[in-house]
Amino acid sequence: MAEYTSNRVIGNREVFIRAHQGDITHTDTHAIVNAANESLLGGGGVDGAIHRAAGPELLEYCRGLNGCPTGQAKITPGFKLKAKWVIHTVGPIWKGGNNREHELLASCYENSMKLADTQSLESIAFPAISCGIYKFPKTEAVDIAINVSLNMLGNSDSIRRIDYVLFDEEMTDLYIEKLSLLGDP
Ligand code: APR
Repeated sequence: MAEYTSNRVIGNREVFIRAHQGDITHTDTHAIVNAANESLLGGGGVDGAIHRAAGPELLEYCRGLNGCPTGQAKITPGFKLKAKWVIHTVGPIWKGGNNREHELLASCYENSMKLADTQSLESIAFPAISCGIYKFPKTEAVDIAINVSLNMLGNSDSIRRIDYVLFDEEMTDLYIEKLSLLGDP
């Protein structure tokens, strides 16, 4: 199966970047990011998979968070997941592109990375936020995901590894193509 891995120096620090096809609930990074909705009370797609794998304690914990606005992020324990933490962020629903969708998707990556950094986490895994049920155009979403998260990585004190975990081959190929354009480290 195709995958991209690279050790690079960003902002004077050595970091590890990986993109591969898989199920994010199996990822052993310190945090995995959930593409949630504003209620934070579960749903389908990756959100449903994360809640199933984490167990009912996650939903109980999320009930105390009072939701999350689009573009923002909140952190919870991972409960039964391999990842110790889940960062829940709410991607924008695609409504044609003139409703701040690009800016809000960028905020999801920015705020998830900031949260991981303030918690001193060393590794984080992202799914393709907004690229499923929320229907964000895929190539535009991949550009935002990679540009914003790598830019934040350069400014992070703690994060040394980003895993992009993609569910299908098409998405995986788009990430690998975009990351390969970064050139050699
Ligand atoms: N691991 C990694 N990626 C996954 C997984 C998984 N287990 N399951 C689905 N995906 C992928 C999808 O294929 C898609 O590329 O995650 C990407 C995001 O898709 P969605 O989960 O549909 O998320 P999003 O488009 O942001 O829509 C959010 O879906 O169920 C809800 O509660 C959630 O209402 C919110 C909406």
